[in-house]
Order: sequence, then C-alpha cells, then structure tokens
Amino acid sequence: MTKVTTLGEFIVERQADFPFAKGELSRLLSAIRLAAKVVNREVNKAGLVDDILGASGSENIQGETQQKLDVYANQQMINALRAQQEVCGIGSEENEDFIAFENGEAIWGKYVVLMDPLDGSSNIDVNVSIGTIFSIYRRKSKPGTVAELQDFLQPGVDLVAAGYIIYGSSTMLVFSTGHGVNGFTLDTSIGVFCLSHPNMRVPEDGKLYSINEGNYKQFPEGVKKYIKYCQEEDAETNRPYTSRYIGSLVADLHRNMIKGGVYIYPSTGANPNGKLRLMYENIPLSFIVEQAGGKASDGKNRILEIQPKDLHQRTPLFIGSKNMVEMAERYMEEYSETAAGREE
Ligand code: AHG
Ligand code: MN
Ligand code: MN
Repeated sequence: MTKVTTLGEFIVERQADFPFAKGELSRLLSAIRLAAKVVNREVNKAGLVDDILGASGSENIQGETQQKLDVYANQQMINALRAQQEVCGIGSEENEDFIAFENGEAIWGKYVVLMDPLDGSSNIDVNVSIGTIFSIYRRKSKPGTVAELQDFLQPGVDLVAAGYIIYGSSTMLVFSTGHGVNGFTLDTSIGVFCLSHPNMRVPEDGKLYSINEGNYKQFPEGVKKYIKYCQEEDAETNRPYTSRYIGSLVADLHRNMIKGGVYIYPSTGANPNGKLRLMYENIPLSFIVEQAGGKASDGKNRILEIQPKDLHQRTPLFIGSKNMVEMAERYMEEYSETAAGREE
C-alpha cells in the first residue's frame, strides 16, 4: 500500500520550512481545516435543506445579498479561529470592520487572518464549485494589546501563509507558507485531508482564458485587444484559446493552476477598480500562484507589492500562467491611456 501523508503529518515533517514557532501553524491550520470540514458538510447537503439555501435577507457591506451559507461559513471560521487562540483578529468579506479578539489568550495571538469565507456564493444553489480563501499575517502591534487596522493592512510580500479550499467534485485544501504549494484532498470516509498534489506548479503557458465577457464593452482597450489575440488562429501558439468561466474565482483559479491559463477581472465602467477584493481574494491567490511559478498583477503592478489602504479595497486582477499574464500586460501597456496620449 502506498503511504498516504495527511495534512497533520505534512506539517510536522516540514516544520523547519515554516516561519512559525513550533505548533503554531499546525494549530492555526487545524482551525481552518476544521471549519472547512464543517462548511463542506453543509455545502454538500445544501440541496437537501431548505433552511440553509438561498439568500439570508441581509446584505454584506458591499451591498451584495448574503447567501445563508456565506453567513454560516463566516461564523464557522470565526468560531474555530477564536477557539484556537493563535490569532488576535480576523478581517472578513462579510464584516465591515475587522474583528479583534479581546478575551482569553487570543489577545496574545501573534497572527491575524483575512478571509473570504465563501467565494462564488452565487453558485451555491446551482451545484457548482465554491471556495474559501484565507491569508495569515504576523501582527504588527504588540501581543497582549487589542489588534489594530495596521495589523491587517499589510502587503502580500509580508504574508506568512495563504491558501484556499475548493468545495468541488472533491474538497481540497491548497496552501503555501512560502516554500511552494501543496494540495490536500479530503477523504470524506475518514474525514482527513491527504496530500494529493505535492509541489503544485502552474504551467508557464496554457490555452484557457477566463473572463466575464458579458462586460466586454466596458473593458479597457488593452483587455479587448488581448481577448481578440486569444481568439485569433495561430497553430504555433495553440490559438484560438478556449474560454472557460465558472464565476467562482477559486474554481476558475484552481483549474488554471492545474491546466494552465489566465484569469482576468479587469476594471469596468461600472467598477473602475474591478470587482475582486485585494486583501482576501487577490493577495492570497496571487501568493499561491507565484509560489507555484505563475504570475499575478493588476494589469501593471505586482499584486503582492500593492500597499493596501482599506480592508475591502478592490483591484483589477490578471493571474495565472506566467507567459499568458505577461502577454495580457503587454496589451495593457500598449493600449493604455497614457500610451494613447503619447501617440497623439
Ligand atoms: P463572492 O461570492 O465571494 O462575492 O465572490 C464572487 C466573485 C468571484 O468568485 C467571481 O470570480 C466573481 O465574483 C464573478 O463576478 P462576475 O459575476 O461579475 O463575473
Ligand atoms: Mn469571493
Ligand atoms: Mn464571499
């Protein structure tokens, strides 16, 4: 029988790789993996239970209707992390302000977590993959004090770990602590995450492009031109590329991580900074993709070097296979307003 490595064993074996004191990462991740299992259980029975399906009636701070599972997943993650007492605070898509834990040992926690507890929530009631995204920073304020905004507003280059969970045809937890990316699949029969995708690498090239083309008319000129490039025929570069867009960022990204591809959510007329959130969508996923040899930018600047100013800030996102992201960036540069200005 081939030896299976569980997530728990993996952390113990690779302890030296992690920028955490002994046991900290394992305790933090066990909180996340426990919440993932609970959310996974609810996601899987979502079709059966009327009560959990559909809109909860409240809106999150971005004015989007919160689905019940969003609220549920948020609460599960918060409860699990609070109980583990390694983090002093949490920033979440579902909460306008960050949550600072003031009771017990948590105030001594050295880390903060940022998360999108349920990504792709509009896909819940149609049985399409959804996910959870998280990132972990070391706090800036002194342990023993209440967490502050500055603990959260840190650029991606200062991340200590990030990951995502995909609730798909199987449930996977993919994470990195800055030493490559590893993927673990949940064996539901024993309730254990097992190493199934060691050392994940994003192919340098791909033939999939993912973008919501319904917004085409509102895209910047560079993106329009890049889409045309993807659609042109050229045997040497495998074009035309194939278009794939699920509408769950985690699922679109996970597919591109494995098969190669580019995902773009650019600025649009309606959303000049795009739709996706820097702190708990773009930064953690960019960290994962870079750790797997891919690339991520806002069309120009490396996502991980952007200094966040606001917990719920949005930026455009160009992410995936290195060569594809670079090609899209070249179109952005060539057709940018400043480039147009220079021509006149
Ligand atoms: P969330 O469910 O956390 O609000 O995120 C939804 C995001 C992302 O998952 C997805 O890629 C994107 O919204 C889709 O947006 P469009 O419907 O505008 O394409
Ligand atoms: Mn999301
Ligand atoms: Mn969400």
